[in-house]
Amino acid sequence: MEVLKKRILDEGVIASDQVLKLDGLLNHQVDPELTMEMGREFAARFREEKITRVVTVESSGIAIGFATALELGVPLVFARRKKTLLADPDALCERVPSFTKGIVTDIMLSRQFIHEHDRVLFIDDIIANGDAARGMVKIIQRSGAELVGFGVAVEKMFQAGARTIREQGIRVESLVKISSLADGKIEFAE
Ligand code: G4P
Ligand code: NA
Ligand code: NA
Repeated sequence: MEVLKKRILDEGVIASDQVLKLDGLLNHQVDPELTMEMGREFAARFREEKITRVVTVESSGIAIGFATALELGVPLVFARRKKTLLADPDALCERVPSFTKGIVTDIMLSRQFIHEHDRVLFIDDIIANGDAARGMVKIIQRSGAELVGFGVAVEKMFQAGARTIREQGIRVESLVKISSLADGKIEFAE
């Protein structure tokens, strides 16, 4: 997606060889027009899949997930991050480490908002090592719903997350693939 590449080049800040800050467009500020365009692109790629629900994780996945769900005409459900978990028989939970934050969080999705007959599209902003994404995949699979695919705005190819999800046989669609952040340069893959 050329427009997203351009915005990443203009506004991305390389924090290290591993981390690209995208606060201006994904993680702190949201551009509604750009976000809608990402939503239309995900919707176009998965249009034939008869999606019944879009699922994401709070917080940065919500805007893109919303744009995708609006375009597909289905609800958006966002998994919550919880510090303490009250025993809730309705909740599907996974404990995941966070690469950038260096902490462990629990992500939770209520069975009220995902059902066995659902065809789910999982949307997220960035994939790095994929711990959070694999946690979400497990939650969706445990719900009994069909996980139709994973749409991610930015795939960092030099970290293993997206590959490990493709290796599970799950369709992964990324809008932009970054092959390297080395030497202070953002390199895109084809
Ligand atoms: P992953 O499963 O998404 O690969 O995430 P991982 O646990 O490796 O990283 C945890 C968090 O760090 C995720 O945000 C992820 O989007 C974010 N992250 C990883 N690499 C980068 C990067 O290069 N740039 C930016 N801007 N973020 C990165 P999160 O915990 O889901 O937080 P939130 O943004 O939803 O609040
Ligand atoms: Na995220
Ligand atoms: Na994030």
